[in-house]
Amino acid sequence: MAEQFVCKAAEFKDGDRRIVRIGKHEIGIFKHKGDILAYSNYCLHQGGPACEGLTIARVEEHLNADKTSKGLFFSEKDMNFVCPWHGMEYDMMTGECISDRKLKLKQYKVITKGEDLYVSV
Ligand code: FES
Repeated sequence: MAEQFVCKAAEFKDGDRRIVRIGKHEIGIFKHKGDILAYSNYCLHQGGPACEGLTIARVEEHLNADKTSKGLFFSEKDMNFVCPWHGMEYDMMTGECISDRKLKLKQYKVITKGEDLYVSV
C-alpha cells in the first residue's frame, strides 16, 4: 500500500481541497463539515478532472401536498462537486454521480498520522 502526504491536518479547513498524485492515481481530497473525503480525480464521463470544479449545494425541488412545485432550493445539508469539463455532478459524501447513482468515483482512504494527513492507495 502506497501513501502520499496531503497536508497538515490543522491547515485543512472545511471547504478546502487538495489534489495529490500517487503513481498513476490522481486523487481529490475534500473537507466538508468535518469529514475528509478522497475520490479519484478522473471523471466517469470522459476522464476530466472531476474533483477540480465547483462545489455547490445540491438543488432540490420542494413540493406542496398536492405535488405541485414550490420551486427549486439549495439544500442546507447536501453538497456536490462538479466536473469542470461538462458539469457531471458528484455527491460529496459518497462520490456517486447525481444523475446515475450506479456510477461512483473510486474512493480512497485518508489517514491521520500525528499532525499530518496522508491518502493511501
Ligand atoms: S469529463 Fe467530466 S463531465 Fe465530462
